[in-house]
Amino acid sequence: MRGQLTPGAGAAQDNRAELDDAYGCSFRIGATHSCPPIHAPPPSRMSESIESVLAEDRSFPPSPSFSEAARVKSREQYQRMWEESIHEPDVFWGRAASEIPWLKPFDEVLDWSDAPFARWFGGGQLNASHVCLDQHLETERADKVALIFEGEPTPDGKPEIRKYTYRELHREVCRFANVLKARGIGKGTRVAIYMPMIPEAAMAMLACARIGAIHSVVFGGFSASSLEDRILDGGCEAVITADGGWRRGTVLPLKPAVDEAIVKCAAQGNCPVKTVLCVKRCGNDVAWEPRRDVWLHEALESVEEECEPEPMESEDVLFLLYTSGSTGKPKGIVHTTGGYMVGAYLSTRFVFDLRDDDIYWCTADVGWITGHTYIVYGPLANGATMVMYEGAPNAPHEGRFWEICDRHKVSVFYTAPTAIRAFMKWGDSHVEKADLSSLRLLGTVGEPINPAAWIWYRDKVGGGRCPIVDTWWQTETGGIMISPLPGVSATKPGSATQPFFGVDAAIVDERGKELPDGRGGLLAIRKPWPSMLRGIWGDEERFRATYWSKWAASGKPHYYFPGDGARKDVEGNFWIMGRVDDVLNVSGHRLSTMEIESALVSHASVVEAAVVPRPDDLTGEAIVAFVIPSGSVADAQATVEELREHVGVEIGKLARPAEIRITTRLPKTRSGKIMRRLLRAIASGDDVVQDTTTLEDPTILDELRAGGKA
Ligand code: WTA
Repeated sequence: MRGQLTPGAGAAQDNRAELDDAYGCSFRIGATHSCPPIHAPPPSRMSESIESVLAEDRSFPPSPSFSEAARVKSREQYQRMWEESIHEPDVFWGRAASEIPWLKPFDEVLDWSDAPFARWFGGGQLNASHVCLDQHLETERADKVALIFEGEPTPDGKPEIRKYTYRELHREVCRFANVLKARGIGKGTRVAIYMPMIPEAAMAMLACARIGAIHSVVFGGFSASSLEDRILDGGCEAVITADGGWRRGTVLPLKPAVDEAIVKCAAQGNCPVKTVLCVKRCGNDVAWEPRRDVWLHEALESVEEECEPEPMESEDVLFLLYTSGSTGKPKGIVHTTGGYMVGAYLSTRFVFDLRDDDIYWCTADVGWITGHTYIVYGPLANGATMVMYEGAPNAPHEGRFWEICDRHKVSVFYTAPTAIRAFMKWGDSHVEKADLSSLRLLGTVGEPINPAAWIWYRDKVGGGRCPIVDTWWQTETGGIMISPLPGVSATKPGSATQPFFGVDAAIVDERGKELPDGRGGLLAIRKPWPSMLRGIWGDEERFRATYWSKWAASGKPHYYFPGDGARKDVEGNFWIMGRVDDVLNVSGHRLSTMEIESALVSHASVVEAAVVPRPDDLTGEAIVAFVIPSGSVADAQATVEELREHVGVEIGKLARPAEIRITTRLPKTRSGKIMRRLLRAIASGDDVVQDTTTLEDPTILDELRAGGKA
């Protein structure tokens, strides 16, 4: 769900990322439901979006019995807690932080004097794997199941299921950590993790955390080139991978991509990777470099079962996670230990209202932030039982998710709008076949959810009885920022409703002035929060410029700029409208237009490219590329296919354009800037209503509309 939740699905695809573009342009959002455009509305179009949003006035308060049993039971209680979190953050966060175990207590809650660099829980020491595992061992949770894993293959109709109690998971993580230590990996070493969705992925993260190594998980659907970039940028000395993972009945190989990435790194002169630790999952053939490569199962034979957690300073880095911004190169978002863990713990506890007898399933991939915070760190810090599934939602059939919910009696289910739209398309019968009476709470994340999908989710999956938490947040925020609290909020289809504790969210204009309720504007976060990003790896300037400079000239240097447009209704509910920058949201995956453009122009036959989103009923947004070829194009279809594959190789299959239009010119301003808003309208088949007087050559619009569509 930056999608990151297991996205929709397509038939016979060989890569889990591929379903992101599987449905291309099948149908249009606007044609079927009355929701706001899902694509990022540029500020000039916000008023149109708002009108359609206002049409949505259905409201679903929680049932009295749900509220009665919930941690936060009433609007008044929420309000009181929120006020305290904003006006007395030391009291609120000091108390919240004391609910997780510290190896050394912190001296102060927040130091914001060096803004935008926050210091949370200064003086304190802790270890994330200790918070997730060791703390439970002295309690009755020690033998509680922490992780239920279901593999994709179903030989003889029986799925592969593995369960780990907290005690067992602790032991596995300690052994894993000792394997890393034996290879010289320790505090501060960066480790790339490129894995399928198997328990060893979570163990790898926790093992790094245990010894103070910094993990950088790279989504398994990214290409060798993307992995190479991330290895080099982070200076990763080790890569943890698997031979492959299962995806729709076939092996998705991973180790070969690691090998290729390392060759590419070496070609750059100084490859930092000294160790490749490989999990044997599928048994596919892999090349082997004996001085560098290690099979995990072999290395585990000779290690101890004990491994003391490394005491980490609260502000020591826990992980890097790369995400796309509006310029080409992905950003290594830095999260540190104390604030992140407190945020993950508290948001999981309140937003999912987790109970000891809940079976919680977040369908995200660990390659995304949702997989970090709401599969690994948040649920385990709360001592929850969680489900992890390896494969595609339509393997071996389109009811697989519901079968899993039924089999394991899932009670809290968290997925992405794009997946919900795929389920809708596959038909109600799959849902109806399963007994979903164990479900009590549903969640979504990754992109705005259209009301039709929301209502379907509520009725068909939730049986009309489960509250839906539509959670807005980002890789950068580390945890949920705006979301209903299930026992409190009257939910509305398409609204993420209210700010979480400690979140001072506002809708402001370009100068940082708060706008009246109902007006669309820019979302701003006006105060620091514990799980906030601490930087961009190796690029302080970009950190300041991207997130903290939007309103600096207006005297508000410490307002955080998330890059989303939103509005707030008179009841105080937030409605997220999408990105206002050059970031695309395809199936909840965050991609940068510039990144895709530079992948296209890196192909010899392309001189210039412009990439824009087009609304798509299934994937939210689909990628449309306008491409100027370097010579004459003999076979447009073949060229388009070749370019799509090229983007797949450069970035990953999830970034391949749904449509590529070959053109001889692009619309530019007189100063030479590509006018993407015009291209957006053309790609969507909309009338161009914007001002075109700044266009250098107005005749180009007709050419673009008429031609080159392949
Ligand atoms: C979008 C994902 C509307 C938004 C956790 C944000 C959403 C970006 C929602 C972050 C939601 C995420 N409603 N939009 N509930 N959740 N978004 O970093 O544009 O992968 O800025 O983190 O996804 O994506 P990221």
